[in-house]
Amino acid sequence: MSITFNETDKLFVISTNNTEYAFKVRHDRFLVHLYYGEKGKSNYDFKANYRSFSPYLPNVGEGFSLNDDFIEFPFYGSGDFRATSLKLRAPAGDCCTSFVYKSHEIISGRKIIKGIPCARAQEGTETLIIHMADEVTGCLLNLYYTVFPKHDIISRYFTLENAGKETVKIEKAMSLSLNLVGHDYDMISLYGAHMEERNIQRSAVVMGNQRVFSRRGASSHQFNPFMALVGKDTDETKGDVFAFNFVYSGNFLDEVEVDQNGHTRVQVGLGDEDFGFKLEAGESFEAPEAIMMYTPNGLGDMSRKMHSFVREAIVPRDPMEKRPIVLNTWEACYFDIDQQKLIDFAYEGVKYGMDMLVMDDGWFGARNDDKAGLGDWFTNTEKFPDGLAVFVDKVKASGMKFGIWIEPEMINPDSDLYRAHPEWCISCKDRTGSLSRSQYVLDFANPAVLDYLKKSFKETFDGVAIDYIKWDFNRHISEPGSPYLPADRQDEATFRFMLGVYDLFYWFMETFPNVMIENCSGGGGRYDLAMMSVSTQIWTSDNTAGRIRPFIQYGSLMAYPSYVMSCHVSNPMVVEDYMNLIDYKFKVALAGMLGYELNILHMGDDVKNEIKKQTAFYRSVEKLIKFGDLYRLVSPFENNGTTAYYYVSTPDSGENYADRILLTYLQNEGVNDGSTITLKISEADANATYKDSVSGETFSGKELNDGINFKMYENNMHGNLWLFERV
Ligand code: DGJ
Repeated sequence: MSITFNETDKLFVISTNNTEYAFKVRHDRFLVHLYYGEKGKSNYDFKANYRSFSPYLPNVGEGFSLNDDFIEFPFYGSGDFRATSLKLRAPAGDCCTSFVYKSHEIISGRKIIKGIPCARAQEGTETLIIHMADEVTGCLLNLYYTVFPKHDIISRYFTLENAGKETVKIEKAMSLSLNLVGHDYDMISLYGAHMEERNIQRSAVVMGNQRVFSRRGASSHQFNPFMALVGKDTDETKGDVFAFNFVYSGNFLDEVEVDQNGHTRVQVGLGDEDFGFKLEAGESFEAPEAIMMYTPNGLGDMSRKMHSFVREAIVPRDPMEKRPIVLNTWEACYFDIDQQKLIDFAYEGVKYGMDMLVMDDGWFGARNDDKAGLGDWFTNTEKFPDGLAVFVDKVKASGMKFGIWIEPEMINPDSDLYRAHPEWCISCKDRTGSLSRSQYVLDFANPAVLDYLKKSFKETFDGVAIDYIKWDFNRHISEPGSPYLPADRQDEATFRFMLGVYDLFYWFMETFPNVMIENCSGGGGRYDLAMMSVSTQIWTSDNTAGRIRPFIQYGSLMAYPSYVMSCHVSNPMVVEDYMNLIDYKFKVALAGMLGYELNILHMGDDVKNEIKKQTAFYRSVEKLIKFGDLYRLVSPFENNGTTAYYYVSTPDSGENYADRILLTYLQNEGVNDGSTITLKISEADANATYKDSVSGETFSGKELNDGINFKMYENNMHGNLWLFERV
């Protein structure tokens, strides 16, 4: 049993394989958090200091304040002056609530969240549901705690039901709140921009409030919902890590606040900016799911557990046994595509081990550049005179599979759709909407918009043998309003937009059940757990430059697995160094799921033969990368771009532990002083002998444990691979 309740002490304990989370009911009504950490290390007696100036309730008395104790789910206006989880505007106009514990239930498995992706129940999953009520508004609050024992993860969210007689409005909604003792932590978050996603930032937690967030209507390139609090001495192999994430792709808030007692509160949720939700009598609201995990074993252990959680509980399906090695037309041709050229691509690509042609942007409407056509999802017959179905059959006759690009949430003002329905765009009444990449965002809160899209995709794709869809999203939401919603629901626009997005994803998954969806948002602008729940992999970044890409991938792997990380070898930019660049970019791409984005028709035989070797090598290690355990050795963020890591085989990758180890070394900046770097493979079996199938050299496992010494290159952008195989 993962969840227990001790009636005498009114104590709840939620256990994963290695961790424990505990809280109790105090004074018969308040939920007070006691412990989160390693299993068996607490007697659950934590009590925060009572401080003067902290309000107390007359019928409870001095000595207990909602402002000092570790309140499990804190409410705005309850006397808790710290960041709170729920702000609810009552019919009287104030925002005070006092939800008290009423009862609870423990169920096996989990409940799903209506219309929003959530993690799938795993072996041993149980859910604790706490029922609370606020007497004045009549609202009922349910707190959900779902356990994923093997992954040491507990998920959290709430639902709110207006069982009162009058309308209320949610003005802040945080799915997860956690109080931690002390504030001797560093906060790790992932920040960035388009083409520079998921840089790793580590900074000390300080008194006051620190936040990462998105106000862009997408989880965004700028901050990622993942965040961790770690001990000061935590590194890859040791130390406390409390990690958090949010299964949602729109605006979010992760906040960390240190109180007057020096204790830390962490919250994850929709936040209070650009979010509101009106609940009329009888209506209810379900918040997205947040997850938390704890490990005492450092960042490497955290990442590996997160990786297997995403593979097993988040990604919905992998319709193909082997991930396709795509040849994507974007960086090869941009908008300059037509039927014959793409058929030629397919016949050429298949010779070198590529197995899916992905037709990117430019195939529909009047889409000859990024100024027109979005919204008009019918085939451009000038470029594809035989129609989509015949063209796709011709591509597939080459032996290649076929993928196609779409961007359903968007509309160009220069499109038939906009001319017919200008009122279908997200906008604020009487205000001119801002453009971004010459496009507006469709109002997915409006069911008519979704109906139109479903109908047009059904018509265009009906009878077309599509194997894969690349789903893009290339701008953020400014002027966040919905012409469809009434004035008093305008602050619901971005949340309802996301519900519409998930609705369309679910429709695609149902209508085209064998199609693999690759997610994209100008690269990795929606690189989040909810998008991973409706797709198989994500285009990591539009930046494929060898110098930058190792940073982006290294940062992405902190929280998300190789399994979802789409990595392409693109057109080398420096023509003189073509062979090295194609080699280096391949070594970089080998961190995740391989693809190509180059004009194969323009490549010389030397490059094409190199690609043939690359695709064959990738196939030989695909399972090891996809399911193996990742160990990071050298961080580009701390070493001027130099990066090293390895994947070790596990039963998940179909082999014995450490039968094979794939080590990658990438060097972005040259050193001319002949330094060597030592790469220690701690996971090699000390008693085994390994042969590196790349160089042919033999090593004892002990030698690998102690570290191989590698003489750094004199020039930039060189890399090395070792594939150690147990002999
Ligand atoms: C942005 C994506 O990230 C690119 O890969 C490509 O699909 C373009 N959009 C097409 O417009």
